[in-house]
Amino acid sequence: MERELSLEFVRVTEAAALASGRLMGRGDKEAADQAAVDAMRSVFDTVSIDGTVVIGEGEMDEAPMLYIGERVGSGTEPCVDIAVDPLEGTNLVAKGLPNALSVVAIANRGCFLHAPDVYMDKIAVGPGARGCVALDAPVAENLGQVAEALKKDVADVTAIVLDRERHQHIIEETRKAGARVKLISDGDVSAAIAAALENTGVDILFGIGGAPEGVIAAAAIKILGGEMQARLAPEDEEDLERIRELGIADHDKLLLLEDLVRGEDIFFAATGITDGDMLSGVRYRGRTAETHSLIMRGITGTIRNVYATHTLDKKPRFISDPPACRRPR
Ligand code: FBP
Repeated sequence: MERELSLEFVRVTEAAALASGRLMGRGDKEAADQAAVDAMRSVFDTVSIDGTVVIGEGEMDEAPMLYIGERVGSGTEPCVDIAVDPLEGTNLVAKGLPNALSVVAIANRGCFLHAPDVYMDKIAVGPGARGCVALDAPVAENLGQVAEALKKDVADVTAIVLDRERHQHIIEETRKAGARVKLISDGDVSAAIAAALENTGVDILFGIGGAPEGVIAAAAIKILGGEMQARLAPEDEEDLERIRELGIADHDKLLLLEDLVRGEDIFFAATGITDGDMLSGVRYRGRTAETHSLIMRGITGTIRNVYATHTLDKKPRFISDPPACRRPR
């Protein structure tokens, strides 16, 4: 994929962030998600790719847009697969909490694991601790390895974990090992990337979140040179059936980064919707709005922070005025 596509992909996440950020704090996660989906879907049509959504809003019968199998883009080469989460952290936007993002990852055909909408157990670290952790190792052992790799005391290692009952044992074992814990209410894509980036104050992600989110996070972690291991975590027979339907024979397989995202020709773009550890949220300033995005390219490993000022009167209405706030022009 040509490097020029970077800016095209950022336009897609910017549009979704601009549209959905308007609905911050309204307590309506569906509306915030819908605004992001509508904006992202429309802007994708202007991008010069022949794309197929492989991680998206759901199956064709459950999602009218950005569903799995939907073709997006202008239809010209390159032929690529697309993983999207127009609004990662629907509750975060609904409540005005930090770290809501709009994200896309793009890879060549067949390079993403086609993950069903089931849970996935994950562990992720940055380049400094690559090769030192294992999903199946005890929490304390992983923390000790990270501390050694990063040349600090276990007491200075910070683990980020979704605050869920199912993670109580991880939280307790982390505390017992003497490490610090950052509990988050939602958003394990942003959490995994924070673990892989320097200077976010987070060293390792543990725990179970969505499998689609796991594949998207893996794209970013791969480009950042970090490490992630995962395993699908089906809860019932229905989940197992979904996994089988996507052609995954062994649901219990330990998934390494290369199983989640194959190859190096990957793009990852994210725009902040609410303020977060690595990205600022959208700032609305009357007729303009500011966004902060990250765009990363796998082949070169380049990571760009993109700060943009958008003139809202010159944007299509689906971006500048989500349904709840349409104003006369
Ligand atoms: P949504 O954006 O779909 O609301 O997902 C938010 C999220 O926190 C993900 O980041 C995470 O992977 C998943 O939900 C965790 O699921 P659950 O809330 O069921 O524990």
